[in-house]
Amino acid sequence: MNEYRGLEGEWHDLFWAEEEVNELSLLDSFLSEIEGPSLYLGSGSGRLLGPLSEKGYSLLGVEASEEMVSLSQKKWPETQVVASHWEDFELEQSYAAIVVPAFTFQLLDKPQAALEKMRTAVGEDGHLYLSLFFPWIELSGELPQGKWYPDQELTLPEGKIGKMWTRHKVDERKATLKREHRYQLLDASGEVKREEMTRQTIRWFADGALERMLSRSGWQIEKEIQNFGTPLEEGEDDLVYVITIHCRAVTPSGGGKK
Ligand SMILES: C[S@@+](CC[C@H](N)C(=O)[O-])C[C@H]1O[C@@H](n2cnc3c(N)ncnc32)[C@H](O)[C@@H]1O
Repeated sequence: MNEYRGLEGEWHDLFWAEEEVNELSLLDSFLSEIEGPSLYLGSGSGRLLGPLSEKGYSLLGVEASEEMVSLSQKKWPETQVVASHWEDFELEQSYAAIVVPAFTFQLLDKPQAALEKMRTAVGEDGHLYLSLFFPWIELSGELPQGKWYPDQELTLPEGKIGKMWTRHKVDERKATLKREHRYQLLDASGEVKREEMTRQTIRWFADGALERMLSRSGWQIEKEIQNFGTPLEEGEDDLVYVITIHCRAVTPSGGGKK
């Protein structure tokens, strides 16, 4: 299971804050069309759930990591979060929509079954928001496999530094990327004071495979947004690194289950 713990959980929002893009406005515009309560799968420390709940959207977060849930409850005490893996979450009512931002879907062990459960959770008129990334950099070999490289760095209070190192392995046949992260907390003199390792298996989906999986689970794509809607700058490659999908519930196609 790929739930976040320790420094990975504590520093998650700080690393995201270094990124230029923020999914909040995309989620806001999706939810503004939804009537009724929605689920947020993998709500983490509340980075997006908090501001969205504050805006008045009725959202219940489902988060596998108890540590992330307690960070979320501390920072956003008014939000609703349940500590549960999606796979074990008990559906007690029907929801208008489910949102799965920040690539959490790619951490799930059984994506087809997860989509089927999402479809069950929403009933006939439901909607789904998913964002997925494509690991072009790892697949192109731009980053060497099996070797540690410095990935992200943070300046923390009192001159402390947070470093994250990454090592990865691609399995093209299984369409999985195995990533190890080494988190290091250094004091102002550069001495390592705390070190933690984590492992994740991330799936990626080619367009056709994703559409088939969605359609078998009873989802039809209605809208696709590329690279968080950021326009291409001159000279930039036109690869799609991130795709955000809006789907609506339909009758599952008869392709059988994976
Ligand atoms: C990339 S983080 C995104 C967190 C949050 N959505 C955000 O953008 O700040 C993925 C989150 O999904 C959680 N997660 C992973 N597998 C899960 C599962 N099977 N069910 C529920 N949550 C899961 C992790 O613990 C982590 O908090």
